[in-house]
Amino acid sequence: MSIKIHDAIKKVTDKIENLPFTGEPANLYEPLKYMMSIGGKRLRPALTLFSNGIYQNNIDDAIYPAIGLEVFHNFTLIHDDLMDNSFLRRGQATVHSKWNGNIAILSGDAMMIYAYNLMMQTKQDKVYDVLKQFNKTALEICEGQQMDMNFEQQNNVTESEYIRMIELKTSVLIGVALSIGALIGGANAIEQKHWYEVGKNIGIAFQLQDDWLDAFGDTETFGKKIGGDIIANKKTFLSIKAIELANEQDKKTLNTLLNSNQTEPNDKIKQVLALYKKYEIDKYSQQKMNEYNHLAINALEQLPISQTDKNEVLNLIEELNSRKK
Ligand code: IPE
Ligand code: IPE
Ligand code: MG
Ligand code: MG
Ligand code: MG
Repeated sequence: MSIKIHDAIKKVTDKIENLPFTGEPANLYEPLKYMMSIGGKRLRPALTLFSNGIYQNNIDDAIYPAIGLEVFHNFTLIHDDLMDNSFLRRGQATVHSKWNGNIAILSGDAMMIYAYNLMMQTKQDKVYDVLKQFNKTALEICEGQQMDMNFEQQNNVTESEYIRMIELKTSVLIGVALSIGALIGGANAIEQKHWYEVGKNIGIAFQLQDDWLDAFGDTETFGKKIGGDIIANKKTFLSIKAIELANEQDKKTLNTLLNSNQTEPNDKIKQVLALYKKYEIDKYSQQKMNEYNHLAINALEQLPISQTDKNEVLNLIEELNSRKK
């Protein structure tokens, strides 16, 4: 009996609410507790329980590694907000703005170690393989985050460089969430690989949508400041495509704006968004997402699982495709 993705979200949410996340000194652990209590979609742990449930009845074997992935994800968000100079997350103050940068660094570190403790709490004979997959992913996320930061200072980032960057910073974690669940459940290496590919491609579409929401979303619903990527001179699919399609004059304007720290922030956002609209970047972004969603569906088709279980993933892809938060 497999578990539905929405039931899995409920199960991990309940479990997370009942974990203590406390310790001394209080200001080392409070940000951890805070971060884990201000919401979030709980996508990654739900995916771990979901793929696990396809292979075994007792999904409790996967619950702690599932939550370990969520704690790890939340740790990356604390450091990401510090690096991106973001003040709003899930509609609340970010850790570095509520406390300070040093607290964000060390609480984040503690949180990463907390995540490792959770990753280990599964069947003894699976721990090595779980950690092996997890370690590879954790390091790749650092690589992706460094590329993301490097690109802020870099002109002429290509679309394929951007895709590689988001694959590393975001999508590998979604891939490993699915493959680790399957691994704990007893899936073979080939099946684990297919699950990884499903998640990886969903993850690329997910980050494309995140970048789109950062430009065109609504702060109230998205919970993050709109235009944050534009202010930080992030290279996104939107910026790369706009520069590719723009006429000479608009190209120059975009290049100037997206390399400047001088322009008044609200003016800068307004001007860049106007150019994104002029060149219908919206449409291209959706096309790109469709491409990766199709790759996810192709990988899903390789898996010897029931149509009901496949439909769960297909519905999730639909939901994520139109998400507003
Ligand atoms: C935010 O991840 C960081 C990205 C990879 C885009 P989510 O959008 O999954 O954030 P929460 O956990 O639901 O808040
Ligand atoms: C986040 O990318 C990737 C990681 C946290 C590893 P973003 O910087 O786009 O995430 P948000 O938009 O701040 O959530
Ligand atoms: Mg960020
Ligand atoms: Mg970032
Ligand atoms: Mg973002």
